[in-house]
Amino acid sequence: MLGAVERKIGQFVSELEDKEVSALYAKLPRGKRLRAKLILRIAGSSLPVVKTAAVVEMIHAASLLHDDVIDDADTRRSKPSLNALYGNKTAIMLGDILYSKGFFELNNIDPVVARLISHAVTQLSLGELKDVSLSKTFNVDKDLYLKMIYQKTASLIEASAGAAAVLAGKPKEPFMIYGRNLGLAFQMIDDLLDITQDSATLGKPALHDFVEGKTTLPYIYLYEALDKTGRVKLQSMHARVLKPEELNWLKVQFEERQILLKCYAQAKELIDEAVELMNALGEDALSEIATEMIDREF
Ligand code: IPE
Ligand code: IPE
Ligand code: MG
Ligand code: MG
Ligand code: MG
Repeated sequence: MLGAVERKIGQFVSELEDKEVSALYAKLPRGKRLRAKLILRIAGSSLPVVKTAAVVEMIHAASLLHDDVIDDADTRRSKPSLNALYGNKTAIMLGDILYSKGFFELNNIDPVVARLISHAVTQLSLGELKDVSLSKTFNVDKDLYLKMIYQKTASLIEASAGAAAVLAGKPKEPFMIYGRNLGLAFQMIDDLLDITQDSATLGKPALHDFVEGKTTLPYIYLYEALDKTGRVKLQSMHARVLKPEELNWLKVQFEERQILLKCYAQAKELIDEAVELMNALGEDALSEIATEMIDREF
């Protein structure tokens, strides 16, 4: 079924009739396609479903092209990022092309689906902007972090689940709650993996968030757990490249205070809630993909 989505994306890109764009797109590695899998799992594989999954993956790819410019990331999906290969200008424009072709195709699917997805993309962009502004200082406000990750990541997964439900003639609300929880947990795990994994496993830069000024949930919880001296030390390490002994100090602090376990447990709670909701609706097939979202290595 994913093959049909791949072919549909290929078709959408070739319809642009632009050799340079086709060549650039061909160079983009594929990714996990979790959002497409989620849509297919909820709604089957009719043409509107395949189109929706294709559009969502194009939009997601566009958001990553822009994200790597924003985050100064030189790798993505285990390859040099497009901005690293061809510069920011090309990455931004290919992002815009994928976004706008995605929106154009949304108009040929279903007005409710189009509204859901396009609204989510506005949220995604608002979230990315908030991520940038929050990273200018050492953010310790957990609610601001949660709102930001809802916007930048959970909104599109929530809308994908909602859109799939609409296409399948299922009630939209529980699927949107399910998608929201999955999306929040997914970003929390992404933020954890930035700390626990190496860049080869991730296929993108590791330990990069804090250097970029991002105080993700583990840093917020660590800050809460530290005494005054520890807090000053942690804050002094914000938004810069760390020395090996500073990195070591960080790792020891995370370990001693069981911060990473606490973050994982919080993500797991969201996933359990989502799975329970789906089980109550007899949608047992949706628990596997929920687990896949958090028990992953990259
Ligand atoms: C990366 O998303 C961006 C986040 C929202 C954390 P994915 O981890 O789904 O990226 P790909 O598509 O598999 O590369
Ligand atoms: C970006 O979050 C999420 C998007 C909506 C693009 P990150 O900046 O943490 O994603 P990665 O780690 O680069 O994939
Ligand atoms: Mg990034
Ligand atoms: Mg980012
Ligand atoms: Mg990340």
